Amino acid sequence: MPEEQRRLQITVIGLGRVGTVAAASLATAGHCVLGVDIDPDRIALLRAGRAPFYEPGLPAMLQSAVAGGGLRFEHRDAVAGPLGDIALIAAGTPPTPGGGADLSQVRAALAWLKSLPPGDTVAVMKSTVPPGAGQRISDGELRGAGIRYVSNPEFLREGQAVHDWRHPDRIVIGAGPGDTQSVAVVKAMHAGIAAPCIITDVTSAEMIKYASNAYLATRISFINEIAALCGRVGASIDAVSDGLAMDARTGSRIYAGVGYGGSCFPKDVRALDHLALTSGVNVDLLRSVINVNNRQRLLPLYTLRERFSGAVGGLRVGILGLAFKPNTDDIRDAPSLDLIRALTGEGAIVSAYDPRAMPAARPHLPDSVKLAATAAAAASQARAVVLMTEWEQFVNADWTDIARRMRPPRFVYDGRNALDAAELTRLGFQYAGVGRSAPAGRAIAPPGGKPSGLRWPGR
Ligand SMILES: NC(=O)c1ccc[n+]([C@@H]2O[C@H](COP(=O)([O-])OP(=O)(O)OC[C@H]3O[C@@H](n4cnc5c(N)ncnc54)[C@H](O)[C@@H]3O)[C@@H](O)[C@H]2O)c1
Repeated sequence: MPEEQRRLQITVIGLGRVGTVAAASLATAGHCVLGVDIDPDRIALLRAGRAPFYEPGLPAMLQSAVAGGGLRFEHRDAVAGPLGDIALIAAGTPPTPGGGADLSQVRAALAWLKSLPPGDTVAVMKSTVPPGAGQRISDGELRGAGIRYVSNPEFLREGQAVHDWRHPDRIVIGAGPGDTQSVAVVKAMHAGIAAPCIITDVTSAEMIKYASNAYLATRISFINEIAALCGRVGASIDAVSDGLAMDARTGSRIYAGVGYGGSCFPKDVRALDHLALTSGVNVDLLRSVINVNNRQRLLPLYTLRERFSGAVGGLRVGILGLAFKPNTDDIRDAPSLDLIRALTGEGAIVSAYDPRAMPAARPHLPDSVKLAATAAAAASQARAVVLMTEWEQFVNADWTDIARRMRPPRFVYDGRNALDAAELTRLGFQYAGVGRSAPAGRAIAPPGGKPSGLRWPGR
């Protein structure tokens, strides 16, 4: 049988948001998959076909893959190895206090792999590790261990991860010189996925991942700066963004808002900045991108201060959305958390609602913040409401009811430029968005497209 049609034995190490989607998707594609993790609760949930986090489409896929026998889960300590054709490493790489990438989970996974009886296993790094790390791992801890190493960075976006796994823009495979055998195995892992494949060295593959995130971050911070100027001179950021999107040289539509967030995007941009710093390379542009984004998260606070005579002390504010984007319960590095801390720090009385992310957010919020049962309840008695995540249910909320529950001046800050400014103004709200102040009509529709709140660019 040709290599690219082979049913592979794959062990996924680390069952977080990437590893779980990978394991379920690979099993669904016909491979024989074992998922391992060090968290016993996670293993128990997954065995029952339940996802440990919110990701649309994932539970159904997990249940059918587990029932079909192609997907099993084990605690790491119960696995004796060898691990089959591929050990797919998807452990976390959180930020260090200094802004670098903490590789301790990944190193522990590799140490475990090395401790098992030898097999013909390729270590495929799905976790995002800084450019140069894979080469150091190959030359260091894996030297002489008989384990081949491949970088295969992941680009999926939370909230649409199941779709993104099946439909990536590209597949990146970074392998050692002449290691065609490993490349063939990793290509076989992607059998059935119609996407262009770029084969390169390990360090370039790692850099493609970081540069992709940094480039998107640059575009977001750029449009956010343009939005600030639009607001000042009276230009429409919606029209300007549409106009920019029609320029083939500069890429797709990008949306102004209260900044990028999430578990990967900000940490990866900071890690690239950290890598540059430790490598003695100036990346002034990247540093500015980070600064713009930090400021952007507090835009609603600046605007509220302006609207409410310079101070927010005692002001009741309803926050709609805690997750860093819609369709996920992930609150890691979410702009909402920074904003809420700043608001409460200045004495505002905050009530918040999110359809999925409230349990995850609670431990990260000041005790004074009330978590409401609905969007309307979060807005009750508030003089101002801030939209921080463009969940469809906020975009399509019953704003008449919200207006009734709020107190004057019923100020709405649309942190994602996702709401219908003209309609809200008609309903008696005072409206402001990012670079938008006057009613701009139903402005969120891309040219020729349908209005949708669900368009925040992912990582
Ligand atoms: N979340 C995303 O959308 C996304 C997208 C692209 C790339 N990435 C990258 O993928 C990697 C994983 O991200 P995530 O969000 O899934 O992480 P996560 O923190 O959600 O999950 C990591 C998992 O690894 C497990 N783990 C830790 N050490 C382990 C070990 N030694 N052996 C076995 N399991 C271990 C943890 O228990 C946890 O379940 C990161 O490098 C991240 O930057 C994430």
